[in-house]
Amino acid sequence: MTNLLHRPVCELLGCRYPLVLAGMGGVARAELVTAVGRAGGFGFLGMVREPVARIRAEVEAVRAAGVSRFGVNLIPAGTEPALLEAQIETLIALAVPVVGLFWDVPPALIGRLRGADLCVVCQVGSADEARAAEQAGADALIAQGVEAGGHVRGDQPLHTLLGELVPAVSVPVLAAGGLADGADVATVLALGAQGAVFGTALIATPESFAHPYHKQRLVTAKAADTLLTEDFHINWPPGAKVRVLANSVTRGERGDPYAGTRTVIGDEEGRPIYLFSTDSPLRSMTGDFEAMALYAGTGVGRIDAIVAAGERLARIVVETEALLAVDASPTAELGAQGVGQAGRDELLAALEALLEAERAGARVALHTAKHAPAELVPLVRAIQQDEARWCAVLTQAIQGLGGTPSRRTGDFYVKAMAIEELPARLAFLNRGQRWVVRRLQALLPRVGDARLQTELAAMLDAHEHNIARVATVLEA
Ligand SMILES: Cc1cc2nc3c(=O)[nH]c(=O)nc-3n(C[C@H](O)[C@H](O)[C@H](O)COP(=O)(O)O)c2cc1C
Repeated sequence: MTNLLHRPVCELLGCRYPLVLAGMGGVARAELVTAVGRAGGFGFLGMVREPVARIRAEVEAVRAAGVSRFGVNLIPAGTEPALLEAQIETLIALAVPVVGLFWDVPPALIGRLRGADLCVVCQVGSADEARAAEQAGADALIAQGVEAGGHVRGDQPLHTLLGELVPAVSVPVLAAGGLADGADVATVLALGAQGAVFGTALIATPESFAHPYHKQRLVTAKAADTLLTEDFHINWPPGAKVRVLANSVTRGERGDPYAGTRTVIGDEEGRPIYLFSTDSPLRSMTGDFEAMALYAGTGVGRIDAIVAAGERLARIVVETEALLAVDASPTAELGAQGVGQAGRDELLAALEALLEAERAGARVALHTAKHAPAELVPLVRAIQQDEARWCAVLTQAIQGLGGTPSRRTGDFYVKAMAIEELPARLAFLNRGQRWVVRRLQALLPRVGDARLQTELAAMLDAHEHNIARVATVLEA
């Protein structure tokens, strides 16, 4: 089957999909890396400051699970030189396929790893840093936007950064920061990235080594709950910002982070965890988790359940493919047509027509969001994400009925994009949404399967909600 997500970076890393697990220290261990690798993605073990015995054990566990392509992430600037040297020697001795580096760009180290035939991927926060990493020999880059959870290197939003960084280098670029679903992946691919990196979205999985407290806080958090702060600084070079969920520390209720006192608030197998340190709650810890660094990217508002990593990635693949599938043949005319009987064939035909319409709507919203005035971007983006979600639901429903989802996009897309004036295009988009509502209203009473009925009812609600939002904007 064609793999619409395939990009050259997949050959470099050795994965089916360019969907990458971020090398999250403490959190991304063998269990999560294995789950991501088995799902066709690519995982980095987050091994910052870990002793070589742990690195060895984690690498062996991934290999023993049958995943041969994976990476190991280190942070040279945050690691004692002697330990860093031992880590590097270990990675070379183990011949790990890929090494991920973050924070600074050390040319000598990159040269040494390349000389030992290891592939090097550097995460960077600016176009200048990207050029330096490419010059030092990096095989690929991760462009990290300011939306990212954990330590944030630069200060540019991901979309702006990609716009500057992608044309500045010739090695493949992956995008990181605030990504949570297939619409995000389709967007960064459209902006020239070859793939997407997920941190926060893959913490909320049974396989991540984060403590259940951290996972639960992510599931209940909203996008507006994250902030950038320098309050969590013990263990790191000075002046480093992290994106976390607001807590008692960021609200100033735990005192001055820079007063110089060391207060133990937790324990990890005998190692004290200090207030204001960069440690986040892990399965192996006990203590006052609320006051620890609860890392989260801005995509956290769209992570509302703890879902197996493979399942989350599979859904992202379906959503992305639904958006990328392009076939402009004008078959899904958005006119009023009655839906036939609720037999399997009629149901399949109705779902197909809806899928084509949703894909067209998602693509219109995707392209419109790029040029919309700032105040309209959240609305258009919300529509885009909704449409992508329904593409995934419809695709799965069609597959569940034994059908093969078409890759067509209705000619609605072409017609909508021919309208240059934004209000007129939004009005046209709303017409398309109303068509979907009418089809759903006609179809719903004829659907026998309770689960599909619930999903289609949710789709109907969401469309009515979005139509009302757009109408309000147009009236204003
Ligand atoms: C809990 C956590 C730990 C992280 N640790 C590391 C790390 O050790 N090394 C690194 O390169 N990046 C680390 N990051 C940053 C990620 O590489 C990536 O940029 C970020 O997770 C992407 O944003 P997202 O979380 O919104 O997906 C960490 C991120 C999180 C959330």
